Amino acid sequence: MQFSLSSAPLKDWQGDALAVGLLQGDHGATHRDSLQKRFPGLAAALAQQSFKGKSADQLVLNLLTDGGPQRLIILGLGEPEELNLDCLRAAAARSARAASGINGRLGLLMPWEGLEPTSAARAAAEAVRLTLYKDRRFRKEQDEPSKNPAQLELIGLPNEAQAGLRHVHADCAGVELARELVAAPPNHVTPAALADTAAQLAHDYKLELTVLERSDCEARGMGAYLAVSQGSDLDPKFIHLIYRPEGEIKRKLALVGKGLTFDSGGYNLKVGGAQIDMMKFDMGGSASVLGAMRSIAERRPIGVEVHAVIAACENMVNGSAVHPGDIVKAANGTSIEINNTDAEGRLTLADALLYACEQKPDAVVDLATLTGACVVALGDEIAGLWSNDDPLAEGLQAAASASGEGIWRMPLKKSYKDGLKSILADTKNTGPRAGGSITAALFLQDFVSRGTAWAHIDIAGTVWSDKGRGINPAGATGYGVRTLVNWVCSPIA
Ligand code: BES
Ligand code: MN
Ligand code: ZN
Repeated sequence: MQFSLSSAPLKDWQGDALAVGLLQGDHGATHRDSLQKRFPGLAAALAQQSFKGKSADQLVLNLLTDGGPQRLIILGLGEPEELNLDCLRAAAARSARAASGINGRLGLLMPWEGLEPTSAARAAAEAVRLTLYKDRRFRKEQDEPSKNPAQLELIGLPNEAQAGLRHVHADCAGVELARELVAAPPNHVTPAALADTAAQLAHDYKLELTVLERSDCEARGMGAYLAVSQGSDLDPKFIHLIYRPEGEIKRKLALVGKGLTFDSGGYNLKVGGAQIDMMKFDMGGSASVLGAMRSIAERRPIGVEVHAVIAACENMVNGSAVHPGDIVKAANGTSIEINNTDAEGRLTLADALLYACEQKPDAVVDLATLTGACVVALGDEIAGLWSNDDPLAEGLQAAASASGEGIWRMPLKKSYKDGLKSILADTKNTGPRAGGSITAALFLQDFVSRGTAWAHIDIAGTVWSDKGRGINPAGATGYGVRTLVNWVCSPIA
């Protein structure tokens, strides 16, 4: 999809579908007047369905006139004082859906006045592109030509807004990569397939890649990670992908992603309502990290080196799988009693975080579909954020807010660590049900070197949307890519 600004007045704009956002009350008056001039029957049509500009109001007209747009979409945007980038994204998403089936040019005319032009252009363009994304890989009809608009024109924004369109393609391509990795089933996206994806990125964008095989991981004593993998017929792949900028490096960051290409639960098998059939999405953290690396590699920010670390494997059952109760050792020698084989993500992340910290980064951020408890707490629109460092947490919150991705900081309550005490080993991997996403974060914290700023983002709820909402069609959301990219590419203070 191509994006551009159009300075044509409404009466002269030429395109195939036109979407216009109107605020409640009088504020849309200017647009209403020019709309009325171009589409004389419109006022009557709006009055007929008592269109007030409320955020649920919508009128879609297929026009049979020659020359002008074939479809006119009028959207209510709600109260003027509540207009913000999130409303704009939602409106752009509605416009895109209403324009689907129309080829060619989609024009978007919104009450831009209340918004910062660069961010508005970016938000609208990303929203349209990500809404229209469709995954046809697993269907019989492969090459059906797209019946959606191929060009988006933002009508009436000042020229400076052009800067907001600059990275839209790179960022959306990263989100789409993450969505495709998450949506693909576990017989397609295996640990080896994740490593292949990393290799493809390394090849396409000149990144550095190291993949540690099982024997390499054994040599490094990654017993926690390998324990999870040992019941699977597929080999684990420990992926380390590096973006190095040209010139001086001012900060070094590590992104760690949970990469369980399938989580059966192991001998603590997922039963009754535990969504075993959805556990292909348990590599969502690694998908977002790879998606972010794709965007970053295309944008090539200066001054920042980025290490992506993924301990990819499957959690399966066979005769050599971990027994509930096994005691294993992570690479730093910490012994772990695996009292629940379904708390496997934190075992893989323990060794991945240790490895990431060895790269001596200024900050480490991990993304993981870690706990059902986080879904219970925050639902599917808000990820949980834990951090040992306030500036890092605030930077991530700002990055998430700029991308419209929900995030909420949660506490690292020290006393809850008592729940992880083991009679025999240094720690258990699983605490009590209550506060389950917090004990999981506390477990991870133990594998982050002292003095390293670290944040953990639990995306168990946000990785997938059953029905689709806003800019997300039903299915994999690609959550986290834009937050990570915004954070990594934010100017260095
Ligand atoms: N991958 C799951 C977490 C999950 C559950 C993500 C539901 C998305 C939806 C994770 O490995 C897991 O099984 N966690 C357990 C931990 C428990 C055994 C302490 C959970 O949340 O039930
Ligand atoms: Mn699990
Ligand atoms: Zn899992």
